[in-house]
Amino acid sequence: MVRVVRLALIGFGTVGRSLTKLVALKNKLIEEKYGVRLSIIAVADSGGAVVKEDGLTPYELLRLCELPRSAVSTFTPYGLPGAGVREIYSRVVPDIHVEATPSNYVDGEPGVSNVLYALESGAHVVSCNKAPFVLRFRDVMDSASRKGVKVRFKATVMAGTPLIDLLMSLKGYEIEGLEGILNGTTNFILTEMHENLVTYEEALKKAQLMGIAESNPDLDVKGWDPAAKLVIISNVLGMPMKLGDVVRDDLSRLDVREVFRAVKEGSVFKFIAALDLREGRASVKLTKVPRGNVFASITGTLNAVRIRTDVNEITIVGKGAGGSETAHSVLDDVITVAQEVGS
Ligand SMILES: NC(=O)c1ccc[n+]([C@@H]2O[C@H](COP(=O)([O-])OP(=O)(O)OC[C@H]3O[C@@H](n4cnc5c(N)ncnc54)[C@H](OP(=O)(O)O)[C@@H]3O)[C@@H](O)[C@H]2O)c1
Repeated sequence: MVRVVRLALIGFGTVGRSLTKLVALKNKLIEEKYGVRLSIIAVADSGGAVVKEDGLTPYELLRLCELPRSAVSTFTPYGLPGAGVREIYSRVVPDIHVEATPSNYVDGEPGVSNVLYALESGAHVVSCNKAPFVLRFRDVMDSASRKGVKVRFKATVMAGTPLIDLLMSLKGYEIEGLEGILNGTTNFILTEMHENLVTYEEALKKAQLMGIAESNPDLDVKGWDPAAKLVIISNVLGMPMKLGDVVRDDLSRLDVREVFRAVKEGSVFKFIAALDLREGRASVKLTKVPRGNVFASITGTLNAVRIRTDVNEITIVGKGAGGSETAHSVLDDVITVAQEVGS
């Protein structure tokens, strides 16, 4: 017996579009394997929304992906210019709300309001937007438990590499802390500086030309993004921290002459995010590591985290960004929720 699970997708950028293509192309397979058919009934970007109560067909989904940014509401006859989450929910309430809007750590919007509104409306939530889990973790979880709905957010940390799932699975272990490389952009910049002995500015320019760094790179190079991920992890591990609790370095201060000296000594600089649960401390710091250290071999946009437990150390390595990787991780969460609520 196949169950239809209705999705509203809020945010139709890199990740939202990848997810839409995945749903269009993989739905048959998902149906055969898991007994659920995913039906996208609403899609929104910053310009408005598309709502189709009985679900957009695979063909319509792929056509939607061909529209330019901010144009979903031009999709006739289902487009609703200017419509946001409230208007969508006044017409249809999805089973699962997927939040793929930008992560904004200043006031959390639009993610915080969207996620809380969806939960209060009785929808399960899957999010790759980090802000609701960085700024309002407790409120989100309380709202979900009050309404008896599920929340999943594994794409918020390491994108397609399932660190959050792994941490949640370590139920019999005592996790003492973890450290690693949680930001691909800064790791790419550092790799360039070490391998080609170029300045920070030159490495950043290359990252921007390749689409790896934003035109304003502050979220990455000032450590906000890895700090946000540490905050999410600290909440998952039951020792909640605030963004302001995380001590951050500024990578742009690194002089290529220091890099040159480190290379001569047989070391490399890495932007290491660390969480010490016993001390209750978190930091994102430029750290010199010897060439033999596992983190020294993590180059380019790759991420890696070493989890320290009372029993052993576990290291997980993988891509920490990318539209397709992140969309797959969101899809995993969607399927998991669909299965959990259907059983
Ligand atoms: N890309 C990755 O590799 C990656 C990895 C892990 C996590 N994430 C997280 O996933 C989220 C999405 O990332 P992305 O790369 O897809 O971002 P993106 O390309 O910038 O897309 C963001 C989307 O959100 C829409 N949006 C902005 N404000 C909105 C509003 N008020 N209402 C409805 N839609 C709104 C944008 O609309 P317009 O199209 O009109 O601008 C755009 O469609 C972010 O929170 C990011 O931190 C991304």
